[in-house]
Amino acid sequence: MNNIIDVKNLSVLFGGFKAVNDISFDVKKGEIFGFLGANGAGKTTTIRVLCGILKPSSGKVVLEGKDVTKSIQILKNKIGYMSQKSTLYKDLTIAENITFSGRLYNMDDGKIEKRQKELFDFIGLKENVSKIAGSLPLGIKQMVALCATVIHDPEIIFLDEPTAGVDPKTRERFWELIKNMASSGKTVFVTTHYMDEASYCNRIVLMDKGSIIDFDCPDNLKTKYFKQKPVEIKFKDNLVQNKIMKEFENQNAGYGYIFADTLRFFVNNKTNFENIISEYKKDLTVTQTEATLEDVFLKALQRENKK
Ligand SMILES: Nc1ncnc2c1ncn2[C@@H]1O[C@H](COP(=O)(O)OP(=O)(O)OP(=O)(O)O)[C@@H](O)[C@H]1O
Ligand SMILES: [Mg+2]
Repeated sequence: MNNIIDVKNLSVLFGGFKAVNDISFDVKKGEIFGFLGANGAGKTTTIRVLCGILKPSSGKVVLEGKDVTKSIQILKNKIGYMSQKSTLYKDLTIAENITFSGRLYNMDDGKIEKRQKELFDFIGLKENVSKIAGSLPLGIKQMVALCATVIHDPEIIFLDEPTAGVDPKTRERFWELIKNMASSGKTVFVTTHYMDEASYCNRIVLMDKGSIIDFDCPDNLKTKYFKQKPVEIKFKDNLVQNKIMKEFENQNAGYGYIFADTLRFFVNNKTNFENIISEYKKDLTVTQTEATLEDVFLKALQRENKK
């Protein structure tokens, strides 16, 4: 099989608390693999085990055919890890940060400079490399941290919320680099809270309180949770909106969330829903829409909490 990572029955306990609870999954070579979950779900803890930083309480993690708990020294050059908090040294310049990272992997300075230029050119980073890292805006900081993480051209790249707090334009550039690395055969393991980013992943693990609640590609997850596509409803005014939402509730027509002036609605009972819509057709407009990964995540959590 072309699995580059195999995780079997992994658990991590901190004292009596199970931060990771018996999870199993595989990651294929060259895929962008997403880890999604609310705060405290166990994403960072899992990454730390996969990188060999943290010993699991039980279970097995195999990376490129080797047990990480025994072979982390051999695997070191194959892994790049960008931790959740910025990994740059604030009082060093951009160039010094990159050089430091490259030297840790025994790269000579000429090679480091060449690779840095390639990465910066690709990402469109024109920042003066003699700037102090601590003074950079967050988006630039994270891009420099990513370049430092992949300076030694690792096979597997672990990125723990690399774009948290970064503006949308910079996130887009960031993801261009991630996609490019994956298309050149690198494996990218990424955690994120941004659902638009999750849709770039080939497969996604949904985590909650240490357990995997689902695991598949984005399209399969969407069709699994939503046989019927959601609709968006705009109302003539707030009064009408409240009245109709009450009707939906009374007749168990479905459920929804209000975003600004639009109700995102998931139909449970088609007949009741259509009856209400036709009764109030002068007061609203309905548009068919697609399920998003955010919808999937919320529904998966709901199901999990009902268990
Ligand atoms: N060293 C530790 N000692 C004790 N508890 C810990 C330790 N590290 C993590 N935890 C706890 O384990 C749980 C999982 O933490 P983890 O950092 O893996 O979550 P996460 O999914 O990365 O969350 P976030 O989205 O906030 O980054 C949390 O409840 C956290 O408080
Ligand atoms: Mg985390």
